[in-house]
Amino acid sequence: MKQTEKMLVIGACGQIGRELTVALRKQFSRHCVIAADIQPEDKIDLEIYPYKQLNVLDKEKLEALIMEEKITQIYHLAAMLSANAELNPQAAWRLNMDSLLSVLDLSVKYRVKKVFWPSSIAVFGPDSPKKNCPQQGITEPATIYGISKAAGEYWCKYYFEKYGLDVRSLRYPGLIGYTAAPGGGTTDYAVDIFHHAIKGETFTCFLKEDTALPMMYMHDAIRATLELMDASGDQLQVRTSYNLGALSFTPKEIYEEIEKEVPGFMIHYASDFRQQIAESWPQSVDDSQATKDWCWQPAYDLKRMVSEMLSKLSILS
Ligand code: SER
Repeated sequence: MKQTEKMLVIGACGQIGRELTVALRKQFSRHCVIAADIQPEDKIDLEIYPYKQLNVLDKEKLEALIMEEKITQIYHLAAMLSANAELNPQAAWRLNMDSLLSVLDLSVKYRVKKVFWPSSIAVFGPDSPKKNCPQQGITEPATIYGISKAAGEYWCKYYFEKYGLDVRSLRYPGLIGYTAAPGGGTTDYAVDIFHHAIKGETFTCFLKEDTALPMMYMHDAIRATLELMDASGDQLQVRTSYNLGALSFTPKEIYEEIEKEVPGFMIHYASDFRQQIAESWPQSVDDSQATKDWCWQPAYDLKRMVSEMLSKLSILS
């Protein structure tokens, strides 16, 4: 039955998209999963095929793709992240919101069976609880990225309730992986630090050493996404977006863990505008609703993640 699915991954060249496309193709098959991104076809690695170039703001092209390929599931991952969005608020709003509205609208029109859309810890704001921030914690975001995610969550719930569209969502923490670089987020330091450690370079961190944030290894994030999408719809109590937790650490803590494996690695701190964004977010989230509804359990702690990141990046370098 799984073979009859046809999936579209929008933003397939991005940090999550690359790994999710590979994981979906393992679970289903290569020809069942179409990768789409804004990059021209001649810039794409062979492993990403089948591939379609798509600017997600081009609704006509998106519609043609959904119709011609008879898409049954959409994973819509294209977005502008928190730091870049603060530098381009209007463009971020257009990209993050208009694309979601097109995906929701076309999914109803073409009876797409399931939609995945990522939300973020950025829906929380300075007044939300800092530790174990609850599922229903105050969502008064202070960033344009957070505002777009908070509004998007309600659009998803609205489409579920009004049109019965099976749209599912996770509030990802900062994601750390080795295959693709993140682009313009506040948690990117936790990926960049590994690349500097591997090259033997001193790392300059744009957050202060004691800034704790919720984080997760990409392997856990991809598994969470697949598990949420596999869960039976009637198990899912949350139709905005699920809190999803794994790790919480500061720049100093991740640095110390890396330094154990890369002795002599050096860090210094020079915080910039991203410090304020980080301080508006919780330090950790309570994801017990995800555990209750679809048995979510992270597998990677800080030590295991650091060790795997360093060994994978050394092989790649
Ligand atoms: N990783 C994202 C960012 O930093 C948060 O969801 O923007």
